[in-house]
Amino acid sequence: MIKLANKRVLLGVSGSIAAYKSAELVRLLRQQGAEVRVVMTATATEFVQPLTFQALSGNMVYSAWDDADRGDGMGHIELARWADAIIIAPASADLLARLRQGMANDLLTTLCLASDRMIAVAPAMNRLMWENAATQDNMAVLKQRGIHVLGPGTGGQACGEIGLGRMLEPDQLVQDISALFGSGILSGARLLLTAGPTREPIDAMRFLSNRSSGKMGYALAQAAIEAGADVTLISGPVALTAPARAKRRDVNSANEMYEAVMAEVPTHDIFISAAAVADYRPLEFSKEKVKRKANTIDLALTQNRDIVASVAALPNKPFVVGFAAETSDVERHARGKLQRKGLDMIAANQVGDGQGAEVDDNAMTLYWVEGSHHLEKTTKHKLARQMIAIIGEHYHAAT
Ligand code: PMT
Repeated sequence: MIKLANKRVLLGVSGSIAAYKSAELVRLLRQQGAEVRVVMTATATEFVQPLTFQALSGNMVYSAWDDADRGDGMGHIELARWADAIIIAPASADLLARLRQGMANDLLTTLCLASDRMIAVAPAMNRLMWENAATQDNMAVLKQRGIHVLGPGTGGQACGEIGLGRMLEPDQLVQDISALFGSGILSGARLLLTAGPTREPIDAMRFLSNRSSGKMGYALAQAAIEAGADVTLISGPVALTAPARAKRRDVNSANEMYEAVMAEVPTHDIFISAAAVADYRPLEFSKEKVKRKANTIDLALTQNRDIVASVAALPNKPFVVGFAAETSDVERHARGKLQRKGLDMIAANQVGDGQGAEVDDNAMTLYWVEGSHHLEKTTKHKLARQMIAIIGEHYHAAT
């Protein structure tokens, strides 16, 4: 089975004799279906010629700052956005120390700092350098920040010593990298997702909206792509960049979101409704800006159509996952929505008091008729990967 189909791997190569093994790693990653771009540190180019990686990856190799430049100085950000994962192999002791410090003194460390994607390192160094308290301290901090550590392995080293510190062999690394991406559980599935708030217009200038930033929905879009899905993202107004491979449609109001979802849903297998859709909109819209007159004014509201319930009521409905944003009695309200809206699953989160919306971390409990699964508070990106794994399992069980 091709394990890395559609995956974009940014391979960072730092200064170590093990850099020669990374040439084989590029070949094996591509064999598993990944698209690979290589970024080398200056020291790495002294061990292996960039041309070797260029020939094996089929892409230009980035090393100097301006290699990634597109003329506006933002090329490094584009490169960071391009990747589904950054894998640094070999990761020298120096590179790991710089990563731990959050330094951005070359292209590779800058990319790591500018990325919210999965990062993994495959350390390679002399055994005493590996055992050194400084390196071990660096590794502990990197792990705590969610950076994956692949290896090192044990055995004979280039310096003649024997011990822990060898970079893992390329075939082992490919297996570990595939495992990090998950099982490709949504390979071939077409997933439709809503994210962000809606804006319900009052007049030429004003609207009703809510606190959703879109972070949770966008993280789910990225996680679904990593799991192999084709993703269509219908987004309310947010200040986020969509994952490079998601098809994005921008909408403003709940009505626009409803129309966009209904147009897209027949060609999708899974629908996740992460958007904070306004339940009500102003009954009337004034083209003129409403003038200030009385101390109080009445604003009549009318109910919006329920998008997720409408999708769940379709005769050929996809697998439908709703959300429940609650301030109290989370399970009771979430289970009520699961049943009333006819959903396959609901993701319930506590909102208010700085929880759920706007922030970078969240906790979630997934409910379905016969069960539930609680996911502890973590970054929305990690949470999204865990959610997609569970949604994927239930989707397959239902089809
Ligand atoms: O965007 P972030 O800042 O990262 O914040 C994430 C979040 C808190 C917005 C997200 O985790 C979340 O809870 N999203 C759903 C918010 C919401 O509208 O919940 P609800 O309990 O009011 O709605 C229940 C479900 O019905 C939701 O799936 C909602 O998308 C859907 N709905 C609601 C109203 C409507 N007219 N149509 C709908 O489809």
